[in-house]
Parts: sequence; C-alpha cells; structure tokens
Amino acid sequence: MNSPDKALLAPWPYPRWIAHRGAGKLAPENTLAAFRLGAAHGFRMFECDVKLSADGEPFLLHDADLSRTTSGHGVAGERRWDELSKLDAGGWHSPPYAGEPLLRLEALARWLQANRLMVNLEIKPSPGQDALTGAAVAREAARWWSGQAVQPLLSSFSVEALRAAQNAAPDLPRALLLEELKPGWLDTALDLACVAVVGHHPHLNADNIAQAHSAGFKVLTYTVNDVERADALWAAGLDGLITDSVDKLGPDRP
Ligand code: G3P
Ligand code: MG
Repeated sequence: MNSPDKALLAPWPYPRWIAHRGAGKLAPENTLAAFRLGAAHGFRMFECDVKLSADGEPFLLHDADLSRTTSGHGVAGERRWDELSKLDAGGWHSPPYAGEPLLRLEALARWLQANRLMVNLEIKPSPGQDALTGAAVAREAARWWSGQAVQPLLSSFSVEALRAAQNAAPDLPRALLLEELKPGWLDTALDLACVAVVGHHPHLNADNIAQAHSAGFKVLTYTVNDVERADALWAAGLDGLITDSVDKLGPDRP
C-alpha cells in the first residue's frame, strides 16, 4: 500500500467531538440555528450535509427531497437557490424555529470563521450529481476558506464525489465515509489520498481502528449518542466522534 500524503496528515487540527448536522436533533438540522445551539453546548466542530441547487449554489440539506425538513416539496437539487432561499427549514422541527432559512455554504463559512469554529462538510450529492457536487463543494470551500489556518474536512460516502473533490481542490483534507467496512476499505481511502476514514460506529473496534492507524489514517465515527458506546470507542483508539447528543455528550461533559 502507498502512504497517504504526509502534508495532508500533520498536524491533525480537529477536535474529538463533532456535532452532527449542527446540533443533532435539538434544533432544525443543517440550519444556522443548529450550529448556534451546538456552539452553545461547547462544540467547536460540526458535521453538515452539502448539496447543490439547480443553479450550482452549495447549500445545506440532508435529504434529496425537500419534504421532511422544509416547507417545500420535490427534489431539492432541481430548484434554483432563489426559490430554495424562501423556504422554511425550521417550522417542521418546532414552533420557535419557524422561518429559519436554508443555509448557503458561503454564509456558513463566514459564520464559522467569525466564531473560530471548524467543520466537516459531508458532500451529499443529489441523485446523479456526484462528480458535479464533489467538484463544486471542494472548489467553493477552497475559495471561502482561503488563507484560514484550519481548512474544512471534506467527506462523502461517494467515491466519485471525493475523486472530483480531490481533482478540484487537492489540498483540502478528505475523509471516506463507510457504512460498512468492505474488503479494500483502506485501499479506497488511500487511493483518494484521504487523511481519515469515518466509519459507522457498530462496525468499529480496537482491531480495525489500529489497522487504519497503521495505514496512516485518523479514524472518526458517526453517529454515537450513547455515553457507554462513546467511552468504548475512545478506549479503542478513536480520534473523532460525531454525535446528535450535544446536550449529553461533548467537550463540556466529563
Ligand atoms: O457524516 C456522518 C453522517 O452524517 C453520515 O450519515 O446520513 O447522517 O448524513 P448521514
Ligand atoms: Mg451527514
């Protein structure tokens, strides 16, 4: 096996605790309200999901469809930003968040930098848009974080999206998301010159974490909401943990 790019590996700038979709389930996911709440609970790094509007604007949304988390309906990636920007992305969650808008990646970059906070941008392409989304998110992230001491960590389940991100902005750190640890998982991450793998937590243990470390990767996990499971994974050598439980886990807790 080749070694990952040493320039990308050192030093590791990210904290151990990462708030999922901003603040997990306590505020409307992937909105600025969620990031504010996660930050109020002491989190210094956030995971979020990024896709493209029909006119190429990177913005935050988990699902391909608008229905679950906004007042809109249909495929999000088929709407232009001027239409998406008028949707309510908070009212579905609870009345105090009614009217919370969808968040452009550019606006998130400004807010994070003003507050000296870090981010893991999960590239979440709309169906059939893997390469387009990977390239656009990486290119725009490189532009909006230009000159910043800590760059965003790009991740994706999509190898095609990560490959496009690598080609568009080779210096941005990348991580391969893994729902399962299939044969060749480390080779795929090496091939993409990733700095980390982000595994689904039920599949991680001390042995495969050590295996990933030996290959030169940091090991992160999603989405752990249970104190005992978090403790077991830290003991197994984990480097970073993505959680919804920003009120029960995290940097402000013992
Ligand atoms: O990036 C980690 C995690 O967010 C991946 O799963 O479906 O919550 O985006 P999902
Ligand atoms: Mg995600």
